[in-house]
Amino acid sequence: MTAAPGSSLSDGPQREAWQRTHTCGVLRPANIGESVVLNGWVAGRRNLGGIFFIDLRDRYGVTQFTLTEEQSEQIKFSTEWVLSVRGTVCERESKNTELPTGEIEVRATEVEVLSGSEIPPFEIRDDVKVADDIRLRYRYIDLRRPSMQHKLVHRSKFINAIRRAFERQEFVEVETPILTKATPEGARDYLVPSRVHAGSFYALPQSPQIFKQILQVAGLDRYFQVARCFRDEDLRADRQPEFTQLDMEMSFVCEEDVYAAWEQVIREVFAETMGVELTVPFPRLTWRESMDRFGNDKPDTRFGLELVDVADWVAVSDFGVFQSVLEDGGRVRAIRVPGGGSAISRGQIKPLEQLARDHGAKGLAWWKPGESGGAAGPLAKFCADASGAKLREVLGAEDGDLILFSAGPERQVCAVLGALRTHLGAKLELTEPGTWNFLWVTSFPMFEFDGDSDRWFAAHHPFTAPTDPSLGGADPDRGALESRAYDLVLNGWELGSGSIRIHSQEVQARVFDLLGIGPEEAQAKFGFLLDALAQGAPPHGGFALGLDRLVALTLGLEQIRDVIAFPKTTSAADLMCGAPSPVSEEQLSEVHVTSKAPPAS
Ligand code: AMO
Ligand code: AMP
Repeated sequence: MTAAPGSSLSDGPQREAWQRTHTCGVLRPANIGESVVLNGWVAGRRNLGGIFFIDLRDRYGVTQFTLTEEQSEQIKFSTEWVLSVRGTVCERESKNTELPTGEIEVRATEVEVLSGSEIPPFEIRDDVKVADDIRLRYRYIDLRRPSMQHKLVHRSKFINAIRRAFERQEFVEVETPILTKATPEGARDYLVPSRVHAGSFYALPQSPQIFKQILQVAGLDRYFQVARCFRDEDLRADRQPEFTQLDMEMSFVCEEDVYAAWEQVIREVFAETMGVELTVPFPRLTWRESMDRFGNDKPDTRFGLELVDVADWVAVSDFGVFQSVLEDGGRVRAIRVPGGGSAISRGQIKPLEQLARDHGAKGLAWWKPGESGGAAGPLAKFCADASGAKLREVLGAEDGDLILFSAGPERQVCAVLGALRTHLGAKLELTEPGTWNFLWVTSFPMFEFDGDSDRWFAAHHPFTAPTDPSLGGADPDRGALESRAYDLVLNGWELGSGSIRIHSQEVQARVFDLLGIGPEEAQAKFGFLLDALAQGAPPHGGFALGLDRLVALTLGLEQIRDVIAFPKTTSAADLMCGAPSPVSEEQLSEVHVTSKAPPAS
């Protein structure tokens, strides 16, 4: 029998004597005089003048119980042992106002040890500093910490609220296969060898993309799923090899319908789980404008420091380096940091230069405007007199500001200034906690060129519809083609992506062609989608939101691993269970696989 937390747990026919009547978070002065049983872990003990005060902890809180010296000699236990404590609720002499149960304590009459414990590898306290690998190795100990439990509870509340919000809009939750065929989302696949089909492999889904489109052809109209996705890619703070998407797809829609569906879901979920009232619709910004103003496609719009093109000034200045960049078809852009003249010293500019170099820049020119003689920086001598006046006008610059310049190919200038802007926003603490700046970035390019492999790639994925269904005619400039893809950004993080899809077999075949995927390869890889598109495919579109990122952001965390119960390390290992691990020769031969790896030491 289970009982609702917080309620009395005393009723029920098959109770054992040791079973709890209350959790460790609920007893209050109103319970004084009651006889209770608590179950939990020993969180700490103190001996004050012959009385032992012990904290008992469970998911719901901590309750203090007391033992006399005589009792404590009869019953031996230590930190993290699991106890059943029977006793009477009494008023506490020295009350702890920090603790919800701090006005009472339980005077124990009986204590039963339910389970012993070895000395834990680290203390179960929120402020304890422990190396990440130890936390991951002993995840069950780490998860005992109240703050970690809070994160998982918050995640659970979010998922449930999102399910309810989608259900209110008549979405149907459908589970798509985990053992499946590759869906291209830009990462490597995790492969699973087949025993029955020698030499063939399943791929774990990078996303349910193709299935959700096929569900539209099947007439489901509004699909939704809390979907586990698998991607073998370089891991970072915001990337895990397996993660969860809130995935959806809708029929007979355009971009605005998808935005509106999500705005309603997110608004309801923020109100329900966080008490936050969001303003909808969220702002929209085209990809082009985002790159021009912020240097990237996931701008944090909680602060300014926007990029400004200073070509008009370069034309009247004497700075040859920048002039030749413009002549070579490059860009010269700048960021004005208001008050940066005094807030950022010459020494503090050095790391900014390094950051610029890390993003491919040759250097970082800067200027601190000031009254005659008061100006500073390598560009000061080029910003005197009329040229300086022009630059002040272009930038809206004032004495006391710091101006940072980047010149070079457009992509590089965006990368450099985008990174500097993000860095300065954090360093100068320009963001208010509790501000939720959602933003739709729209109209992404259709294709991107990868110089390393000398190939065009789909900027989103190859099922995304082009704005121009004719795809620019016979010999299109792929770089200029615009797609109907969009991202949702929150405070500088890409939260999710989606697009209106291609629902015509011909257009889909043409996009594969432009990507260098020939008809045979297309048939082998995606024939089932092409077949489905030929059977009455409705116009459709959708979106997938990274749940781990959303939960982390709403808790103010930078690492998504903190909101995943059993996450992996940056080398995709699970330190607790030891995955991945070698398997026996027999198992390998059953699935027709021979390993070339040297035997594990
Ligand atoms: P995309 O590949 O952009 O789109 O993924 C959507 C969102 O999923 C999250 N995400 C991740 N989160 C944690 N770890 C990862 N390794 C990881 N990779 C992605 C991000 C991302 O924005 N099928 C399309 C969606 C669509 O077109 O409907 C897709 O998967 O928050
Ligand atoms: P130079 O004349 O090469 O010494 O450069 C003068 C200043 O311009 C130095 O501070 C350089 O770091 C900076 N600089 C040079 N090239 C670039 C560039 N492409 N973008 C931004 N700053 C640059």
